Parts: sequence; structure tokens; C-alpha cells
Amino acid sequence: MKILLLGKNGQVGWELQRSLAPLGEVIALDSDSTEFCGDFTNMQGLIQTVRAIAPDIIVNAAAHTAVDKAESEPEVVRTINSLAPTMLAQEAKRSGAWLIHYSTDYVFDGSGDKPWVETDDTKPLNVYGKTKLEGEQFIRQSGCKHLIFRTSWVYAARGGNFAKTMLRLAKERDSLSVINDQIGAPTGAELLADLTAQAIRTSLLKPELSGLYHVVASGETSWHGYASYVIDIAQKAGESMWITPEDVLPILTSAYTTPAKRPLNSRLDTSKFQAAFGLSLPHWQLGVNRMLTEILEK
Ligand SMILES: NC(=O)c1ccc[n+]([C@@H]2O[C@H](COP(=O)([O-])OP(=O)(O)OC[C@H]3O[C@@H](n4cnc5c(N)ncnc54)[C@H](OP(=O)(O)O)[C@@H]3O)[C@@H](O)[C@H]2O)c1
Repeated sequence: MKILLLGKNGQVGWELQRSLAPLGEVIALDSDSTEFCGDFTNMQGLIQTVRAIAPDIIVNAAAHTAVDKAESEPEVVRTINSLAPTMLAQEAKRSGAWLIHYSTDYVFDGSGDKPWVETDDTKPLNVYGKTKLEGEQFIRQSGCKHLIFRTSWVYAARGGNFAKTMLRLAKERDSLSVINDQIGAPTGAELLADLTAQAIRTSLLKPELSGLYHVVASGETSWHGYASYVIDIAQKAGESMWITPEDVLPILTSAYTTPAKRPLNSRLDTSKFQAAFGLSLPHWQLGVNRMLTEILEK
């Protein structure tokens, strides 16, 4: 089994290098790779890569994920999030390979308070969400065997993340204001990578599972709840900080201007994924606890 992994150094890509390894030979690339082209702005290079490697499975963890920056460079964002994945889907269709791809809660407008299901109407509020939605739609239309996982609020121990930023600010400031009206589920890259490997194994035996799925950790919180939780755990672990969980002030999205609009309701219903693959999704705090243990031990 040959697996082509694109975006190997991103949060999810890094964890996929580990979780996909037991499934077969993994050829992992990023935008700087030299032996094969892994640059999503180089379509011809990418086509040559897929044809030269002839993978059984293409796993696409590459994306333009800088949501605010995306507003000022929509063309390059569209190339990376929509046009390149479309080309991968066409190549997968041509060769009979599976394409595994990730999408986002930002395909929704965030209205209401119910968890979104896969069949709900989409209405992205920003360039990132629009290009990710277009990518999904093209992949589905291509007719290739695919798994598209919409996820949310991804974090990893490696690299920068929201929890690390909160811990740093808690040591530098004496108060902190964090948005409390955007609701979702922090989801670990580690968990997503493990679920991806499990889902691939099942799908190879049951190609009828090809489709779109919502995949996030269970439970829900706001960014304010997430920040307070992180600071509480760090305090209990003996970290010295100016701020306690009680000092974290809730603010509304409307009071915090950003170039990209963000959805308030980012809840995703994962029933379809759990039923299809016979997997259950752990509570978001479980993964955040593990990540904090790794960070705080350093
Ligand atoms: N992060 C989140 O909160 C979140 C939420 C919902 C859904 N998702 C989705 O989950 C997936 C994985 O996200 P992530 O958090 O792991 O993202 P990430 O950490 O930002 O990693 C993205 C990867 O894409 C690569 N990339 C960017 N431009 C590229 C280009 N032109 N050619 C090739 N590679 C390029 C980056 O590589 P370089 O650094 O080398 O450019 C990086 O390795 C994405 O599809 C994302 O849309 C993420």
C-alpha cells in the first residue's frame, strides 16, 4: 500500500506521518520538498508527483489556514484550498486512488445553536471558508473515492497554538479578554490523525463509505471556556502566572474586530462518522489535558 501524504509538516500532517505509517509506505511531502513537488501552487508539478508515485491513497493535509490573512490574498488561497485539491481528486479518479481531505466548520454561517449535520446548508462568512467549501464540492463532483473530514479548532503540541498563547499571556498580563460567544470543540491533530488511519482501514474494505463527515472531539466550549480551562490546569500544575481562571474576562465577537468574520455556532454533529466507522470521539478536555502535559513538562 502506497500513501502520498501532502502537507506533512502542518499540525495534522505531522501526526499523520505517525498514524499512517502502519498502513504502508508513506511518501510525505511539503511545499519545499525537492525529490517530488509538494507545492500546491504548482499544478503541473503536483500532477507529475501523483503520476510518478502512483499512490493507492492520497492524504491531503495541506491548506492555507491563515484565516485573517486569507482575506487579502483570495486567489492564492483558492489555488491551495480549492484548485489543487480538485486536481488531486481528478488524478485520484483517473487512477482509482482514494483521496482523504480535511475541511472546516467555517463552511457554515454559524447561525443557531444546534450542531451542524453534513446535509445542512452551507454559507461561509470568509475567504478561507468559501475556498474550503469549493474544494469539498469539487472533490465530491469528481467521482473519486474520498473521505472529507470537516473539523474545527485544531491544535497540536508541536508549533504554536491557542493554549500556548493563553499561557504566555497569563504570565505577561494581569487580565485577559477572550471571546465567549463562538462555540465549538477544540480537536487535537493527534486525534484526527488516529481517526483518519482507522477510517482509511475501514473504507478500504467498504468503499461505499466514501463521503463527507463531521469529525471533532465531543463536548463543546467557547474560546473563553477553553482559555479558562487551560489556565486552570496550568495553575494546578504549579505554573507561575499573573492570571487565574477568574481573571479571564468574557467578550463578544462583536467587540473584537478581525479581517475575517467567524461563525458563532461551530458545533458539528459527528453521529454520521461514529456510526459509519464504529468509532467514538473522546471529550475535548482529554486531548487538551495531554497536550498541556507535554507543554508544561518542557
Ligand atoms: N487549524 C484549524 O483550526 C483547522 C480547523 C478546521 C479545519 N482545518 C483543516 O484541517 C487541515 C489541516 O490543518 P492544520 O491545522 O494541520 O494546518 P496547518 O498546521 O496550517 O498546516 C497546513 C500545511 O499546509 C501547508 N501548505 C501551505 N501552503 C502550501 C502550499 N502552497 N503547498 C503545499 N503545502 C502548503 C503548510 O506547509 P508550509 O508551512 O511548508 O507552507 C502546512 O504544512 C486543513 O485542511 C485545514 O483547512 C484546520
